[in-house]
Amino acid sequence: MKASSTRLAAAAVAFAHTGLALELNAANAASIKTAASQVAKGLYVFHNEAATTGQFNQPQPWFWWLSGSGWTGLMDYTVYTKDTTYKADLLSALAKNVGPNFDFVPPEQSGWEANDDQAYWVYNALTAMEYGFDTLPDSPSWDVIATNAFNLFAERWNADSDTCNGGLKWQYDPEANGWTYKNAVTNGAMFQTAARLARYTGNQTFADWATKIWDWSRGVGIVSDDYHVYDGTSDDKGANCTEVNHDEWSYNIASYLHGAAHMFNFTEDVVWEEHVHGFVNTTASTFFKSGIMFEQKCEPSKVCTTDQTSFKASLSRWMGKTAVLVPSANDSIMGMLEKSAAGAAQSCVGNSNSTCGVSWTGSGFDGQSDFGVELSALETIQSLLVFEAPLSTAAGTGTTNDTTTPTTDGSSSATTPADQVKTPPTKGNCGKKRRHVRK
Ligand SMILES: *[C@@H]1O[C@H](CO)[C@@H](O)[C@H](O)[C@H]1NC(C)=O
Ligand SMILES: *[C@@H]1O[C@H](CO)[C@@H](O)[C@H](O)[C@H]1NC(C)=O
Ligand SMILES: *[C@@H]1O[C@H](CO)[C@@H](O)[C@H](O)[C@H]1NC(C)=O
Ligand SMILES: *[C@@H]1O[C@H](CO)[C@@H](O)[C@H](O)[C@H]1NC(C)=O
Ligand SMILES: *[C@@H]1O[C@H](CO)[C@@H](O)[C@H](O)[C@H]1NC(C)=O
Ligand SMILES: *[C@@H]1O[C@H](CO)[C@@H](O)[C@H](O)[C@H]1NC(C)=O
Ligand SMILES: *[C@@H]1O[C@H](CO)[C@@H](O)[C@H](O)[C@H]1NC(C)=O
Repeated sequence: MKASSTRLAAAAVAFAHTGLALELNAANAASIKTAASQVAKGLYVFHNEAATTGQFNQPQPWFWWLSGSGWTGLMDYTVYTKDTTYKADLLSALAKNVGPNFDFVPPEQSGWEANDDQAYWVYNALTAMEYGFDTLPDSPSWDVIATNAFNLFAERWNADSDTCNGGLKWQYDPEANGWTYKNAVTNGAMFQTAARLARYTGNQTFADWATKIWDWSRGVGIVSDDYHVYDGTSDDKGANCTEVNHDEWSYNIASYLHGAAHMFNFTEDVVWEEHVHGFVNTTASTFFKSGIMFEQKCEPSKVCTTDQTSFKASLSRWMGKTAVLVPSANDSIMGMLEKSAAGAAQSCVGNSNSTCGVSWTGSGFDGQSDFGVELSALETIQSLLVFEAPLSTAAGTGTTNDTTTPTTDGSSSATTPADQVKTPPTKGNCGKKRRHVRK
């Protein structure tokens, strides 16, 4: 982040309440790093290698997907700040969850894992691929792992195409509660995965899929003409995706925003750039209050669950990276993130130890702290450093010097080496069928 920006300097408000307030000067990279490192500590109090396969303690029902999102936050942290404190644990957690087929379908999650849960671990592979982050031992490169998962999504899409003209279901296990739901977080994830693989590998097949998923999402109306993203639609009892659940959550719009950003960056087609601007506009009008990010569906009524408190992490993470990929959206996005980061920082005065709060639009700590809250604050604050981490492609553009080992192979083959032996994950879950309550 350049200290010379006047607008940044104007936003450089240090919140120096009494005691242990988190100071954040958005014009100063060192200040952002210090603030991020404090919030990362607050997130890491939930780390417990022995507790769950995902390796973060969370209240029941225990959310494996959220650990996946947490590790992506810490991967961003490692690359943005060059602080390697969490890197070894991160790589170890990814190795334990990548599964024997290198696609983030670990045996422990059998019967629990849904497409969106898998996707939130696959985002680690995509992010590592773009950062040229260290690969796992005895494992194929990150783009191969992401492609393996993408191919599973494509198979499942094809298998589900009898209804609604396509669309990926929330669940891939027909026995699971939610099997009939074709929703935004799932299809947004597949869209984003296709778009990121297209840009990284240059392989048109992925871009064609991204376009197909986009057209489908617009067609059934989970993405509206005015860029609202609605929670989902269903093929239950012949419904054939004619009815839409109009709930709006920030991680849904973020999933599509970031996919569209990759499609613009790959195709340089102004139609995708227009889609990005449309999503930014709708994000600003729906998920920002007084210019500060908020989860409109649950925050005002103070009923956000740990799932829901984490959604702003997805929004800030993918807004920030969109600013890098779509220069014409940079100014508005970074302005929104700066104000939100300042709001988040001033909320981090809880428990006399800089614990952050859910709401950033009020004053100080609002009394609710959990894993999702810390993750959202971390991603929002550290996203001010997003320009420190350009996103590479296999062809070698956008690479930079950082704490990671650049990928040299650039292969995009989807084969899984048969001779790869993986360390088995340490621990299963408690055996109860997970109830999906992400709404
Ligand atoms: C902050 O205090 C809370 C409540 O005592 C505690 O659970 C948490 O671990 C502390 N955070 C840090 C980073 O020490
Ligand atoms: C189901 O919806 C799709 C469009 O999403 C349509 O093309 C198809 O004809 C519909 N099928 C039935 C049986 O209504
Ligand atoms: C592009 O990706 C698809 C899907 O993974 C694969 O089948 C195809 O072989 C790839 N094409 C090239 C040229 O690598
Ligand atoms: C987004 O908002 C800007 C500013 O109001 C406006 O100029 C632009 O046309 C909007 N773009 C889209 C795609 O809605
Ligand atoms: C694509 O993203 C890179 C940053 O990774 C940026 O420098 C470039 O300008 C973007 N391309 C377009 C067409 O905006
Ligand atoms: C992006 O916007 C921020 C804030 O307006 C500015 O400081 C930065 O220089 C911009 N970066 C690029 C690459 O334009
Ligand atoms: C990367 O680091 C090397 C060695 O420190 C330096 O010579 C080079 O200019 C750096 N490249 C970039 C893009 O910063």
